[in-house]
Amino acid sequence: MKKVCVVGLGYIGLPTAIVAAKYGFEVIGYDIDKEKVERINNFDPVIEEPELLEKLREVLSYNTFRATTIIEQSDCFIIAVPTPFLENKDADLSYVWNAAESIARVLKKGDVIILESTVPVGATDSLAQRLEASSKLKAGVDFYVSHCPERVLPGKIFFELINNPRIIGGINQESVEKAKLFYKQFVKASLYLTNATTAEMVKLVENSSRDVAIAFANQVAAMAYKMRLDPFEVIELANKHPRVNILNPSCGVGGHCIAVDPWFLIQTFPEHTALLKAARQINDAKPRQVVQTTRRCIENWYRSHLQRPKLLILGLTYKPDIDDLRESPALEIAKKLSIFTDIDLLICDPYVNNETMHELFNQENVPLKHGLDQADIILCLVKHTQFKKMDKLVLQHKKILDFCGVFYEPHREHEGQDQLFWPANNISIATIIDYVQGDL
Ligand SMILES: NC(=O)c1ccc[n+]([C@@H]2O[C@H](COP(=O)([O-])OP(=O)(O)OC[C@H]3O[C@@H](n4cnc5c(N)ncnc54)[C@H](O)[C@@H]3O)[C@@H](O)[C@H]2O)c1
Repeated sequence: MKKVCVVGLGYIGLPTAIVAAKYGFEVIGYDIDKEKVERINNFDPVIEEPELLEKLREVLSYNTFRATTIIEQSDCFIIAVPTPFLENKDADLSYVWNAAESIARVLKKGDVIILESTVPVGATDSLAQRLEASSKLKAGVDFYVSHCPERVLPGKIFFELINNPRIIGGINQESVEKAKLFYKQFVKASLYLTNATTAEMVKLVENSSRDVAIAFANQVAAMAYKMRLDPFEVIELANKHPRVNILNPSCGVGGHCIAVDPWFLIQTFPEHTALLKAARQINDAKPRQVVQTTRRCIENWYRSHLQRPKLLILGLTYKPDIDDLRESPALEIAKKLSIFTDIDLLICDPYVNNETMHELFNQENVPLKHGLDQADIILCLVKHTQFKKMDKLVLQHKKILDFCGVFYEPHREHEGQDQLFWPANNISIATIIDYVQGDL
């Protein structure tokens, strides 16, 4: 296996192509997006990811990697194209099938095809059948097909590509063995070998379990608010139990994976996924509830001050310390609030550039200090590290709605004695409690 073609140069495909090139393969990156291909070949990594620019420069300069819009014969094809859902929430596999059509045009005996995109159970078998039908070669005999789901965390992609354990599932034993030869070249962690359907199911179960866990945290928050308690404290103290590990509540679930993948299981197993459906509903409802609570706070401010408040939104990305806005609940909340004309909206997100901020909101990204000085109401949606470091004491007289725990100070222990904090130390929670009115 000498030449590798990575199909789809996005968050997953581009870093994978670069790593493969650094570890001895001759790599081409095939993408249908002409502009993206040109930018990549001109040393522009297109996405924000630590180390990406230096590593791209290196592999382009050594000629071990290049991007192209024309697919070429290769020994191994890695498919990393999008798998969103359709309006009815069923998986949209059209990108995978289009990729398969392109591969079939250049497929030859002995080739290895590895599907890294997240797919519903059974899709790898369908991929093999489609390749067979278009190429007239026999899957599992003339060419080999596997599924190796990707688990990397944006922001740590290069570390995790090498250090995460991988599940490799093939349509037959030979397909697994061939795919293993590719990953063995650069993955330092264990490679677990299985069949394709198990590998597909593993990935979907992983992300669904995260979605259910987040929904549980969001329900704990709803119950805590109702009792005028701080959910972050309830969860912190519950987690002092040696076998309990509850996640923190948030303003919703975003990104490409956790909010999407459970639907692939629901689509295939409608009768066994009541819990997954409930979790999706709970997490999907959260942005709307955050908007309602914020609106009450705004209206109350207006009544008592007889002027429009300045509302500062902290954070737009779908999770802390990354630039990814895809399916971001914080962005959804900001967009919904931006249509109201009775507020002056300020938005601060250190990971969103000014160009994007203009495109989305027709305004500048407000520097944190300026925003904090100006704001009457502060809405915390994403727990970026920079926000955690802000001087909270100067904000005592502002209205703060902290939905992600930026303001929460965990219990401190002094010589084995827990410091008693009474009343609750989180000024922001008190504000949320005042405006929740049962909808959180
Ligand atoms: N982003 C993540 O953190 C992450 C993590 C784990 C798994 N995944 C899964 O990996 C897959 C890819 O996700 P991503 O985030 O890299 O997507 P992305 O949208 O960032 O990139 C996909 C790329 O594929 C290209 N493309 C689309 N159709 C094509 C075709 N027919 N031929 C060639 N190129 C084509 C697009 O132009 C785009 O550049 C998805 O299934 C996703 O669910 C993503």
